[in-house]
Amino acid sequence: MAAKYVMEPFRIKMVEPIRLLSRQEREKAISRAHYNLFYLKSEDVAIDLLSDSGSNAMSSAQWAGMMLGDESYAGSSNYYRLMEVTTKLFGYDYVQPVHQGRAAEKVLFPLLLSEGKVAISNMFFDTTRAHVELAGGRAIDCVVPEARITQSRAPFKGNMDIERFKLLLEEYKGRIGVVVMTVTNNSAGGQPVSLENLRQVSELCKEHALPLSLDAARFAENAYFIKQREEEYKNRSIEEIVYEMFQLCDYFTMSAKKDAILNMGGLVGARVDGEMALSIKANTISFEGFSSYGGLAGRDLEAMAIGLLEGVQEDQLRYRIGQVEYLSALLEEAGIAHQTPAGGHGLFIDAKALLPHIPYYEFPGQALAIELYKEAGIRGCDVGSYMMGNDPDTRKQMEAEFEFTRLAIPRRVYTQSHLDLIAQALIEIKKRADRIKGYRIVWEPPILRHFQAHLAPVE
Ligand code: F0G
Repeated sequence: MAAKYVMEPFRIKMVEPIRLLSRQEREKAISRAHYNLFYLKSEDVAIDLLSDSGSNAMSSAQWAGMMLGDESYAGSSNYYRLMEVTTKLFGYDYVQPVHQGRAAEKVLFPLLLSEGKVAISNMFFDTTRAHVELAGGRAIDCVVPEARITQSRAPFKGNMDIERFKLLLEEYKGRIGVVVMTVTNNSAGGQPVSLENLRQVSELCKEHALPLSLDAARFAENAYFIKQREEEYKNRSIEEIVYEMFQLCDYFTMSAKKDAILNMGGLVGARVDGEMALSIKANTISFEGFSSYGGLAGRDLEAMAIGLLEGVQEDQLRYRIGQVEYLSALLEEAGIAHQTPAGGHGLFIDAKALLPHIPYYEFPGQALAIELYKEAGIRGCDVGSYMMGNDPDTRKQMEAEFEFTRLAIPRRVYTQSHLDLIAQALIEIKKRADRIKGYRIVWEPPILRHFQAHLAPVE
């Protein structure tokens, strides 16, 4: 596959300078940061691929919308505008703004989970897993086996493994609080879920009278992949596919910091108005603020309403996913293994393949992320045993399903030359890969450790 770049469907009106440090300055900065990329100052980073969350560039229409912020305590006009958009896109009876995705999880999950319950998902992201555990539950991942083979080119590597899911439904009968479908499947590499798979999961949930919740952070990217790869949907609009995805579920939580192209925001929804909607509202008022603002300013609600509609535009998605596919093609030419086909929001480099001499308990994904920063000031992150290998009961180090270094691409922020530089840096690292060393944790907090832990190089 030759690398082909899709033209940006926008012009750039405002720019933010990038500061380039010397290699020596970068080495000092990462050591000062305890080899944890979350502790780096962003001004010490040249290309920031730590997350595609909240790091997006808003459009001129969104910025103009910010000036229409109605900051009334209750019933702001921006709230009603947002509700018009969410009703059109998702068709849910009750939608509640909250300040970000994990706030949605905090509001919803305790209503479905308690001590002794389990939640099953195609794959939980770190915060969703944490909120399952905080509600007293235990999280079980059930992704299709081909997701683990980074070189297999299956079209929907984010899917639930239906056969195993059926076994889990029997094994945990009476203890399952909620089933969560994450679209796209972030931890498996931004891999999509097919509508066929979502429909099968939805039918099984109905059969077993279980609530199905959509973790919809990257719902638009998932819909684009469905249109590209699922024959039956190639002539359907992105909006039609989105509507169908949501209608197959009972609830959704959404970090609007991704596909709604915002810097801050989230949503939680219930398809049917009723007791649960009332409880969601009550929790929101306690944790987030009154239900018509949910932890956000009126201007943020307006930007979300506009961003949701921009996020489902097909030319935006073609360019967006085109960037990831371009970088994937460059890496393929260079023989650098990564999750393929490329996912929606970034490149997931197979650190285990690049650094086979580093065992999982010395965190190859983290080692490669640190090396990329030292090499070219690029900030990615580990999605592997460092982020996910922490057993909530025993606190023992386990081996995660993957050892990825994730390079998440913010929306509408970087250009082709930035992507070329990322590929170049990885090619340089590959040449001296056998000399790269692993890391060990010298301090860690009990939950979501990757944000805060201190590390040191293994000598
Ligand atoms: N669900 C998924 C699938 C996510 O990727 C995230 C966040 C969340 C929920 C939580 O949303 O950050 O708004 O509270 N993912 C970011 C990332 C942080 O970098 O992938 P949040």
